[in-house]
Parts: sequence; C-alpha cells; structure tokens
Amino acid sequence: MCKLHSAYNASMSFDPASFSSSLIAWQRMHGRNDLPWQGKDPYRVWLSEIMLQQTQVATVIPYYLRFVDAFPNVGALARASEEEVLSCWSGLGYYARGRNLHRAARMIMESHGGEFPKQYEDILNLPGIGRSTAAAISAQAFGEKRAILDGNVKRLLARYCGIKGHGKQVEDGLWKIAESLLPDEEVAVYTQALMDMGAMLCRRSKPMCCSCPVKNGCVAFNAGCVHELPTPKPKKKVPERYATFLLALNGAEIMLEKRDPSGIWGGLWSLPQIEDGISLHDWKIVERIEMPKLVHTFTHFRLRISPLLLKLEEKPEHQRKHSWMRVDEALQAAIPTPVRNLLLSL
Ligand code: ADE
Repeated sequence: MCKLHSAYNASMSFDPASFSSSLIAWQRMHGRNDLPWQGKDPYRVWLSEIMLQQTQVATVIPYYLRFVDAFPNVGALARASEEEVLSCWSGLGYYARGRNLHRAARMIMESHGGEFPKQYEDILNLPGIGRSTAAAISAQAFGEKRAILDGNVKRLLARYCGIKGHGKQVEDGLWKIAESLLPDEEVAVYTQALMDMGAMLCRRSKPMCCSCPVKNGCVAFNAGCVHELPTPKPKKKVPERYATFLLALNGAEIMLEKRDPSGIWGGLWSLPQIEDGISLHDWKIVERIEMPKLVHTFTHFRLRISPLLLKLEEKPEHQRKHSWMRVDEALQAAIPTPVRNLLLSL
C-alpha cells in the first residue's frame, strides 16, 4: 500500500506550466484531432458534450452526425417537437439528456435571442449542464480558462497528485487541483488533452504509463500504485425489477404506449406492461408466445424483461395512452433500445 494523500493540501507542489505544456504538446501529436464536433461552434460543442456524458466517443459519433444533420443549429432544435428530438436520440440512452437539450434550445431562443450564451454562468444555468460540462463548453468554444472534472479527468488527477479516497472532500480537492493546473493559453487544446489522456493513456485498466508525457511528475507512477487509484467506491448491489412487455400484434401493427414525461424512458414510446394494470379481458388472442427474456441495466436498477407476443384477431377497444403503429414505423420512432431489439426480432 502506498503513502497517498486523502485530500489536496497547500503544501503539495506541482508545476502547472510544465504539466500543461507537456499535455498540450502530447495532444497535438497523439490526441484526437478529427472529431466531428471540434471547432468553435458552441452549438456543436454543447451537443457533443451532452452526448458524451455517460457515452463513449465511438458510440456518439454516428448519433451526433445524424443529430446535427436533422437539427443543424439551436433554432432548428428549438422548433422541433420533443418527439422528433427523442426519435433522433433513440438508442443513445439517458433520455433526460435529450429532453433537457431540447428545453435548453427553447430557453436560448427566449432568453438569449437564439445565440448560444458566452458567459459561463449563463451556460451553467441551462438545463442538463453541470459545472464540468459548462467548463468544457466555455474552454472549447470560447477559449475561456475553466477547469473540467469528468470521470476520466478525476482518475488522471487522482493518480498524478496521489489522491486516495472519495467523497466531498476528495472531490473538492480535485477541483482545486484542476483549477491550479490550468494554463493561461491554449485552454481548448489543454482541455482536449485531459480528455484524450484520460481515455487513451490513463485508462482505468491497462494504463499506458510508458507513453505518458507526465509520468516523471506522477505521484502514483513513481510510487508504483497507479492501479490503486482512484480508490474504488464500494459497489452497491443493483436492485432488480421485473416487467412483462406485451408485443400485441394485429397484422403488421403493434400496440405502443407513450410513457409519462418524467421518469425512466420519459416521453418515449414503449410496450404496454402487464404490471401497469393493462386489462386483457376482451382481447381476441389467436396466438401467445413467450419470447426469450432479456435484461436491461439502468444506472440504479436492473430490469428483467419477459416479452410476451400476443397475436390478435382484432384491435381491442381504444385504451388510454395506447396507439397502434406499423412495426417499421415504430422502429423510426422514439423507442428505448430493448424495445427496438424486440421489434427487430419479430
Ligand atoms: N468526452 C467529453 N467531451 C469530450 C470531447 N470533447 N472529446 C473526447 N471525449 C470527450
């Protein structure tokens, strides 16, 4: 076990100028410089930062390209319906991000004359944008000197400065460190360098310390305890929930249910669930097939899904919140990933 710090303290001495210049030089040579959102358009930077919360670059790229094609600027996004926005987001997960993006676009039209705000505080005030995302946008689109601290950067700084533990004190200390290391110039390249180093070199497992431009100053590397940092949080047991999803088919049409705006899959089209009290008593079922079960993991729970295919002779009386759509049409709509996979397996 290495001797490490449990928080930042003023006696720690790092050389910010050497740290940032090494990162900037490394980014230019080895970093990612052909990402489709790179540039100074704040709309594109914002969109990419929201998509990149909880999602990796390789997954985001095709969604990002489709999204900017459909909604090339704030105005186009604000004019779209929530349904159109969510159908473009469909498959990317964490749909609150898409709903907040849409709300924020409307706020920008109303409160900022349609122009993406330049002030950090105004950016931070938009829905779906926290401290690190606001800083990432300010630094990349406007070259402002602002510190980011996403998961990758926390890992990099915890190792470089030898910070162990977790909790508010550690988090506050990492923010102080992130701020103290900021360069006065080339903040956009430096910010990209932190993200790229975190994703490409200073990885959770199999870090590539031999290629790291700041290994000589890295506390964890020098103490031989890179693998101990950041201190893992105790794993919480993920609760499980169960749901029976009905795939009610009448010819080529399937019954879908629009989910309430708040909560899991808010505003998306999903399959009716037995647990929600749907009554089947007057349904004319001609065939009933139990499909293979599937599991979908959310941040806070795991959903065990039992899909039940019901072929119906006719559509039952209209039920609240339910609509019929052709399966090919449903695949174009705002539907969650497990529903998409079930429809594709029909
Ligand atoms: N993760 C968050 N923002 C990113 C960016 N701009 N480039 C690469 N990865 C990121």
